[in-house]
Amino acid sequence: PEQSAALKQEIRELLIQEDAALVAHYYTDPEIQALAEETGGCVADSLEMARFGRDHKASTLIVAGVRFMGETAKILSPEKRILMPTLEATCSLDIGCPVEEFSAFCDQHPQRTVVVYANTSAAVKARADWVVTSSIALDVVNHLKAQGEKLIWAPDKHLGGYVQRETGADMILWDSACIVHDEFKAKALEDLKKVHPDAAVLVHPESPESVVNMADAVGSTSQLIAAAKTLPNPVLIVATDKAIFYKMQQAAPDKLLIEAPTAGNGATCRSCAHCPWMAMNGLQSIRDVLINADQEILIEEGLRQQAVVSLQRMLNFNK
Ligand code: 13P
Ligand code: SF4
Repeated sequence: PEQSAALKQEIRELLIQEDAALVAHYYTDPEIQALAEETGGCVADSLEMARFGRDHKASTLIVAGVRFMGETAKILSPEKRILMPTLEATCSLDIGCPVEEFSAFCDQHPQRTVVVYANTSAAVKARADWVVTSSIALDVVNHLKAQGEKLIWAPDKHLGGYVQRETGADMILWDSACIVHDEFKAKALEDLKKVHPDAAVLVHPESPESVVNMADAVGSTSQLIAAAKTLPNPVLIVATDKAIFYKMQQAAPDKLLIEAPTAGNGATCRSCAHCPWMAMNGLQSIRDVLINADQEILIEEGLRQQAVVSLQRMLNFNK
């Protein structure tokens, strides 16, 4: 604890010295989330992170999250220096959607509008017509459906399936999944619900359909935190990365939060529901990058100008 107090103090001073703001995702370590809030940065879902970074006056952003979040910040604010605790922090959805294959897939369906999840590379965003995050996906797809458009959706098949079921839109889905949410198990969740009959189930839509079907609330990280506050149930079973418990417990201090099970046969897996790439963000690496500036996101300007179009559509939608 002493070491971490000293590190935090060093980071506070470095943030001021470097004219930097710390932008953190809900899945990062609670110490990082608290420091981001305390120093005037933000802790947020991926859409709010993008908005906050774009609008903040700091000349440097430290993006504590995964790589696509840093890239989104750079695409929206090319004049800012975007640093990450580590550039190694990727996402299984980004890995599962290489641009060459994706582009070839889109070329096979030239009449379809291309909608991609924010959890993708800059090159995939550049190939897309729209970018969406989980908090805005239903609204955007409803809008496109009303205009009579048929869609390609990539990369997350579970989120895509959820959006398809909810909107009835004509969508062709790319086949990829989040390694964290894909592990939640409906059968074990049923068993857990029997133990807690008064519990509500909160589910991130990257989870399998069988788990989403059991949900009392489905939504992005921010939407799940809001639901934790408003749902009347004293017990909440939560199917998303467990680092969200830090802010969720603050939002619902009197409620009992329980991790949704990730293993079958009724057993629960207490160490599973945490993204290994989000876990790469630490106080030490935040301090190091503020000093060394060696983990910087750079995007070639031609590519950036293409990628910003689909991202801006999202940010301008329903402002
Ligand atoms: P949110 O947009 O809900 O924050 O989701 C980002 C993410 O990576 C979920 O796994
Ligand atoms: Fe990607 Fe899943 Fe990690 Fe989110 S939790 S960053 S979707 S691997």
